[in-house]
Amino acid sequence: MCGIVGYIGDKNCVPVVIDGLKRLEYRGYDSAGIGMFNNGGISVTKVIGKVENLQQEVKNQGLDSTTGIGHTRWATHGEPNVLNAHPHSNNDGTLIVVHNGIIENYPTLKAGLKKLGYTFKSATDTEVLAHLFDAYLKSGYPFFEAVRRGLKDVEGTYGIAVISTKEPDRIVVAKKGSPLLIGVGEGENFVASDAASIVQHTKKVVYLEDGEMAEVFKDHYHTKTTDDEEVNKEVHQIEMTLEEIDKGGYPTFMLKEIMEQPESLKNSIRGRLLQETGDVKLGGLENVLDHLLYVKRFLIIACGTSWHSALVAKSMFETYLRIPTEVEYASEFRYRNPIVGPGDAAFFISQSGETADTLAALKEAKRLGALCIGVCNVVGSSIARESHSGVYIHAGPEIGVASTKAFTAQLAVFALITILLARRKGMSVEEGQSLVSEFAKIPETVRGILSQNDLIEGIAEKLKNATNFLYLGRGYNFPVALEGALKLKEISYIHAEGYPAAEMKHGPIALVDENMPVVFIAPKDATYDKIISNIQEIKARKGKVIAIATSDDENIDQLADYSIKIPVTRSILMPILTVIPLQLLAYHIAMKKGLNVDQPRNLAKSVTVE
Ligand code: G6P
Repeated sequence: MCGIVGYIGDKNCVPVVIDGLKRLEYRGYDSAGIGMFNNGGISVTKVIGKVENLQQEVKNQGLDSTTGIGHTRWATHGEPNVLNAHPHSNNDGTLIVVHNGIIENYPTLKAGLKKLGYTFKSATDTEVLAHLFDAYLKSGYPFFEAVRRGLKDVEGTYGIAVISTKEPDRIVVAKKGSPLLIGVGEGENFVASDAASIVQHTKKVVYLEDGEMAEVFKDHYHTKTTDDEEVNKEVHQIEMTLEEIDKGGYPTFMLKEIMEQPESLKNSIRGRLLQETGDVKLGGLENVLDHLLYVKRFLIIACGTSWHSALVAKSMFETYLRIPTEVEYASEFRYRNPIVGPGDAAFFISQSGETADTLAALKEAKRLGALCIGVCNVVGSSIARESHSGVYIHAGPEIGVASTKAFTAQLAVFALITILLARRKGMSVEEGQSLVSEFAKIPETVRGILSQNDLIEGIAEKLKNATNFLYLGRGYNFPVALEGALKLKEISYIHAEGYPAAEMKHGPIALVDENMPVVFIAPKDATYDKIISNIQEIKARKGKVIAIATSDDENIDQLADYSIKIPVTRSILMPILTVIPLQLLAYHIAMKKGLNVDQPRNLAKSVTVE
């Protein structure tokens, strides 16, 4: 949610910041802005909408500077217009700030600053920071100290970058609740909210922790806490490559990410499946394995698509481990005084590892004594670092706002965790071997399903004008129904609901008529017969049925208007397969409606505000 990039060195900062912002655009795209030193002052350029508009505007102005900071915004306070875009400046335009997060006590700060004579141009919470830092600067504090003191007055969350004409040899950055890192270069340094924006320049990064700040010069940097204590920071080497964050010949990131699932799944399970012993190896859980086997309860906490993975994981855990498992929305968990203690193990699923509610829930569960395990995609992300231990899903960078390959990688990792623990709780070697060998085939099975892209595109063409969709599934595939519906509504703006198939009789069936497509996830499993009855109930009301069925199902074609076949696998692995056609269906419907699937309106990839 919102992206920050800054550069200090000898080169022109403009292409570095603009290219970096483009890579962060998936985090927010309401407006964009850049500010840089120019002729002894600071020039600020801001536009509505995409970073490419900003690029054009900066080009028109012919701007060039060796130090600058930029921002791409997802509006929290104030509508997305130029005045509310970042950077925000003090009244005389000598200091600017870009900010991710929310300043909760901004009305109080604003009132106080107004009394001191400051005038406000925007409706944002961020503008108070510019005036607040200015007030400390004008009281005689050096730049870094002025920012530090200002931040002590602030309640809320922030990742910020600030420059001032008073000390133009540095960028000051700080972090609390929103990610911020320093990219360490040779004779140049970078600041960013996300490593993807600077990976083409350096692979060395320093992640700031909450309550830390830094002054970044072109050839060195200096880190402290906001309590004025010195901190020595480790330099991390990031592994992400530029190719991984480019579209690789696909028209959209979303299609690229859907299509690369055979590879991303291979990466998720690589080295973790032990075929001979029918076992699983997860290095990140080794030190907590005994603890995990004896907990009384599992909690799985997440938001959005990751929450759907959590629901699948609950079925896996309860079926194979017989450990009671509760799934919680992170935002609900943290505010309801949860009953959690040392007898619990809590899993926190997050693609980005930065979702504010999930991070806050993790801190709360930790405080209450639960063993906390992060299941994240982004290596070195806040949730990964804050957890006691964890497992990376290794899906590679996911840029499309609607999550696809991270979802299937999350499911794969939870199936791995299940087998790992089940083998220690009495699952036989033979059963382990059978599951592991079936699991190893999954990436290639997914490739086979993806080859039905044209068929699914044809179905999308027929259904693209529907205004409502229903997605129904049972057991392991009920969360897949939720995920299918979420994918469609996120990117096509068509209203869609996911329901447990039998539960549709208690409400949604009232909506069914000849205009209502109903997607059934109907593999041949224990509840197959019941699902077939549900399909008949929909057909009796003239609904259009799209069935995701297994290849051994010979009768479904007579019942369904459209059917998409997937190979047979074990139930625990089935959601990894059944979701693939739903991703493609949502994708093609949205594309046929001419929509931007990578950056759907109002959404952001990583929700770092509460
Ligand atoms: C946003 C994204 C979703 C994602 C959710 C949780 O809503 O648009 O795709 O599932 O956040 O994000 P996380 O990074 O914690 O998995």
